[in-house]
Amino acid sequence: MVTNFNMVRDHFYCKKSIKVICLIQISKEVLFYMKKIYENIERILISKSELSERIKELGTQITKDFEGEEIIVIGVLKGSVLFLTDLIRKIDLPMDIDFMVVSSYSNSTETSGNVKIIKDINIDVANKNVIIVEDIIDTGLTMHNLKEIFGVRDCKNFKICTLLDKKERRKIDIDADYVGFDVPNEFVVGYGLDYDGKYRNLEDIGVLKPEIYNK
Ligand code: IMP
Ligand code: MG
Repeated sequence: MVTNFNMVRDHFYCKKSIKVICLIQISKEVLFYMKKIYENIERILISKSELSERIKELGTQITKDFEGEEIIVIGVLKGSVLFLTDLIRKIDLPMDIDFMVVSSYSNSTETSGNVKIIKDINIDVANKNVIIVEDIIDTGLTMHNLKEIFGVRDCKNFKICTLLDKKERRKIDIDADYVGFDVPNEFVVGYGLDYDGKYRNLEDIGVLKPEIYNK
């Protein structure tokens, strides 16, 4: 009886202390993580799990829309890289991928209005189903230009897929065929999106503290 009681008590204390150790460990990691990577983030807008859930839905939708077809997925570097690599793994279709580099915001949060191609694709897209993948549509100038460029390349289909859509900021009328999330008029970073080349490696999407870009 005594032995049984001692065993139960020891088991209880053991479990309790493991829990305490685990909690200390987790909070230490969270604090470290928050300090190092998230210190200039005002708040998390879209979490890692929300991103993966929505991307799965987009992949399913694209698979359905292009059933029995092949597609070419074109990413606009660099912002779309994380999104594209997760998205294509949720698409169950034969596909090829390629990338473009277009001039966009450099180290500022305002657009210049001029968009030029710095690196073009190497694949011939004539008579192909093309899905262009962007991180965010803001003023719409980049996508408007890209649509015009692909307009003369005789694609069978040309679709726009953007992870984020900041509709409030539109300067030109353009709509995406696939939108991950509508976002408010705030500067967001993470999951591929940058400010001055940084923050692309955040796993969530967060709002950057305005004092960072108002410096
Ligand atoms: P648009 O030509 O104004 O639509 O801008 C598109 C490009 O601007 C995107 O591909 C991004 O690289 C960049 N951009 C616009 N808004 C944001 C933002 O909130 N965070 C990070 N990049 C942004
Ligand atoms: Mg971009």
